Parts: sequence; C-alpha cells; structure tokens
Amino acid sequence: MNAPLVPHASDSAIGAAQPTSTADGRLSISPFFDPRTGTITYVVADMVERQAALIDPVLDFDMKSGRTSTAQAERVLAHLAAHELQVQWILETHAHADHLSSAHWLQERVGGRIGIGEHITQVQAVFRKLYHLERGFLPDGRQFDHLFKDDEVFRIGGLEMRALLVPGHTPADIAFEIGDAIFIGDTLFMPDVGTARCDFPGGDAATLYRSIRRLLDRPPATRLFMCHDYPPDGREPAWETTVAEQRARNLHVHDGVDEAAFVELRTRRDATLDVPVLILPAIQVNIRAGQLPPPEDDGVSYLKIPLNVIGQRKG
Ligand SMILES: [Fe+2]
Repeated sequence: MNAPLVPHASDSAIGAAQPTSTADGRLSISPFFDPRTGTITYVVADMVERQAALIDPVLDFDMKSGRTSTAQAERVLAHLAAHELQVQWILETHAHADHLSSAHWLQERVGGRIGIGEHITQVQAVFRKLYHLERGFLPDGRQFDHLFKDDEVFRIGGLEMRALLVPGHTPADIAFEIGDAIFIGDTLFMPDVGTARCDFPGGDAATLYRSIRRLLDRPPATRLFMCHDYPPDGREPAWETTVAEQRARNLHVHDGVDEAAFVELRTRRDATLDVPVLILPAIQVNIRAGQLPPPEDDGVSYLKIPLNVIGQRKG
C-alpha cells in the first residue's frame, strides 16, 4: 500500500515538492526536482531520530560561464534546517553524466559520509584515461568515504537501508532500498519514458535488463523513486511509481518484454541519442565525489575537454 501523503508545513516556502511519510511518520522522503537537469534529489529521514541521508544532490553549473552555484543544494540545506535533521550519509546512485554533484559542497556544510557503489573504481579508471587526469588521481574510490557492496545494509537513524547493485546504465549503479521504498537511480524512468540509456563506457543493455528485473521482482506495492524525469509534452514532472505500475505500463520493460527484445530496442534507441550536454564537465567532477579538480598554480580549477574522443555516432 502506498504510504499516505503527509505534508510538512515549512516546505512550500523552500520549493520542496510534497514530501511523503509512512503511516507511523517515521520514514520521511522529500524530493527536490531540478528543472534544469531533470534530476530529483531526495532527503530521506528517520523523523524519530532526526537523522537523514541525501541522495543525488545537484551542483548548479552554467556551461557558458563555467560558473558553479548552489541554489539546488541550498534548498536541501533549508529543508534540513527546518526539520532539524542531521546528515549521516550523502549517497550517489552513480557517477552522473547530466549534472555535477554537490556532495562535497554539502558535506563541508552539514557533514555526513559520501557513499557510492564499489564499482565506481571501474568508471574512474575509464575516465582517468579519457581525461588524461593528473597523476595524483587514483582510480581506487578513495575520493569517497564509503564504497557500497551489493546487499550491504546500513542505517539512517534507526532505519535500515540496503544498497542494491543495479548495473547496466553504468557498471557502478546502485539503488537504495528502505522500508517499502527504493531509490532506483538510472534504471527505470517513469513508465511513459522508459529506461536509462546503456551506451556510456561500461554500460550494457542486457545487464540493465537483469537489474530492472531485480527491482521489479519486489512486491507490487513497492514504491519506486526515480533519479530523473524527462516529462513528455503536457505532463508535469513526476518521480514516484510502484513496481506494479512499471510492470504494467513501462514503455520499454513492461511484463512480456524479454531480454532479447529489450536489448534490441535499447541498442537501437541509444544509437540515436545525443551525448548529454554536461557529460564532460560532470563526470570529471563526479568521479571526485563532487570536488572540483585541484586548482592549478594560479588558484583556479580547470575542467578538461578531450577533443575528438567521444561522441562518434555508431553505424
Ligand atoms: Fe545517469
């Protein structure tokens, strides 16, 4: 059963979407939608112990000027202050290609341990080479405070959360399960949008299919929270569905679509997709847990853009 919606009085002032709480009021989930990148950041809290995890926080980035800013992250800070929440964890479902992470910026202000899936090391190795990063950048995950293994259980206050390895979009994707809710990262999108692309380095459509089946094997009423929404014309942004809804209606993987059919569809579709606008700026920051590259001797951080390396259309 879906948990009833219990609005938090102060949230409309800071532009948070409607939060939900479980019937006992203990598990609270507050989504923050970033219209620029279509990303949803979540604050997941144990309202009894006032402990929280942040999932996929966004650092605003203006490509034209090369300037970062923190409006999205500040909305999260205001929510934490309004609800007197302490941050235990800052969680990344994967190294995002569509936005820069504000994990580091937030950690400096509110603490918490930054965690990501253990296979981030594979992503770091690929992109260290692609960007020809400095010698000091080691692809061993040390930039993060914790690397999650599949099925690892940890706590937010008194509530248990479980990391689920769901590779396919990237080799390092993880989902986070708590109570009847799963934050599914880039696996499924809303049913009318479909699934995440699989054409980034280390991505694989058959692997994504198996990860999605793992999620869809959960009980039908399990609530699924998206990492992104790219609403089709005329629909408001949305980020919450259920296993039952995805099995019935997901454009790419509703019940009845087998692995071979999905791989064929996903591969054909990926061949038509443009490279994401922010992939090159985003990944070199996100594999550093949201830290900007080390400043050069003039005190300025620079991003690198490898020329003629990525983006060649297949076929
Ligand atoms: Fe992604």
